[in-house]
Parts: sequence; structure tokens; C-alpha cells
Amino acid sequence: MSRARLKLELEGAGCVIVPMCEHDLLEVVEIEESTGLSQWGWEAYRAELSKPEAVMLAARREPPDPSTGRRLVGFAAARVSAEELHINNIGVRAELRRLGVGRALLGTCLDLGAHCGARLAVLEVRASNAAALGLYERLGFKIVGERRKYYKGPVEDALIMTRPLVPKA
Ligand SMILES: CC(C)(COP(=O)(O)OP(=O)(O)OC[C@H]1O[C@@H](n2cnc3c(N)ncnc32)[C@H](O)[C@@H]1OP(=O)(O)O)[C@@H](O)C(=O)NCCC(=O)NCCS
Repeated sequence: MSRARLKLELEGAGCVIVPMCEHDLLEVVEIEESTGLSQWGWEAYRAELSKPEAVMLAARREPPDPSTGRRLVGFAAARVSAEELHINNIGVRAELRRLGVGRALLGTCLDLGAHCGARLAVLEVRASNAAALGLYERLGFKIVGERRKYYKGPVEDALIMTRPLVPKA
């Protein structure tokens, strides 16, 4: 799925949304570590990339930032399982937020998931994560439940959110 022909240009943020590849992973892990996301690490992402049910996207700057050499602005990792699209991780570099990158990454995940037969998108989010909640609500997710004390460091409840997906031809 991640090898799909896809290239979505985001002029405002100076990047494109493309399928993630192994070359992105060092920066994926760097973003993951700097954004407080649940940490998968390089090996887990590499293993995930090889799975046909994985939906892995990169928001890539083209050309790379001339001062830092960085290419990656953000990423999203999701997986289709039993007609559900599970959104596992999404992150955008702090200095490039509120430019539409998160919305483009998540929206593209939803489109690809629907295209692959998923009927429902599902995710969990820290109850205090206002930015992520804002993004998810903006894209039509609704809170359907919670998991008490689900997260560690710090301990916090998870909200479970879902959104129906419309089948794509
Ligand atoms: C959540 C995150 C991915 C959003 O990325 P982003 O590129 O800044 O999001 P966008 O610019 O596409 O924002 C889309 C919409 O989400 C909502 N949103 C984004 N940031 C928000 C914030 N800080 N507060 C409230 N709503 C917010 C808004 O509705 C926004 O639309 P608007 O800018 O037109 O008002 C980013 O804040 C991030 O990486 N956070 C750290 C990692 C994380 O928590 N990931 C989620 C784990 S469950």
C-alpha cells in the first residue's frame, strides 16, 4: 500500500505527501522522539514498511532544507486490519505546524484506507492533546470511548475516536 503512486503538493508548507520509504526513517524517529509520540523506533518502522496492509506516509521537503539538510516535515503511520484503518502515529515538526501538513497526512491516510476497503478509521489519543484532538475533530472523528490510565509517562486516559470511511471505487 505504501508503494502506491501518490504525490500531493502542499505549497504553503513547501512539501509533498508521498509514500514513506526506508530513507525517511532516521528523520521519522527523530520527529517521533521530539514530539512525545509513543515510540516505535527505527526497526519497528522498517518492519512495518514491508507489510502490504501498512499505510505509511511522509511529508517531504523537496529540495531538503539547505541549512539543516532535513527532508522530513512530518509523517503518518497507519494500518488496515479487518475493514478498520488504525491510525498509529502522526507527527509534524514543531516549527512547521498549523500549515496544513497534519491534515494532509491524515486526510491522505483516510483516502488510502478507504481505497483499500476499510470502513472505519480508529485511533487513540491522550485526553490532554488539544492539537491532535483538534485535528481529528476537524477531519470528522468523534469520541466513542476511553481507556482509563492507558498511557504511561505521564499516566493519562486515552480517548478512542472513530470516523466512518466511504468506500472508494
Ligand atoms: C497533531 C499534529 C500532527 C497536527 O499537525 P499540524 O500540521 O499542525 O496540523 P494542521 O496544520 O494540518 O491543522 C489542521 C487542523 O487541526 C486543528 N489543530 C491543529 N493544531 C491545533 C492546536 N494546536 N490546537 C487546536 N487545534 C489544532 C485545527 O482545526 C487545524 O485547522 P486550522 O489550522 O485551519 O485551524 C501536530 O500538532 C503534532 O505533530 N503534534 C505532536 C505529535 C502528536 O501529538 N501526534 C498525535 C498523536 S495521537
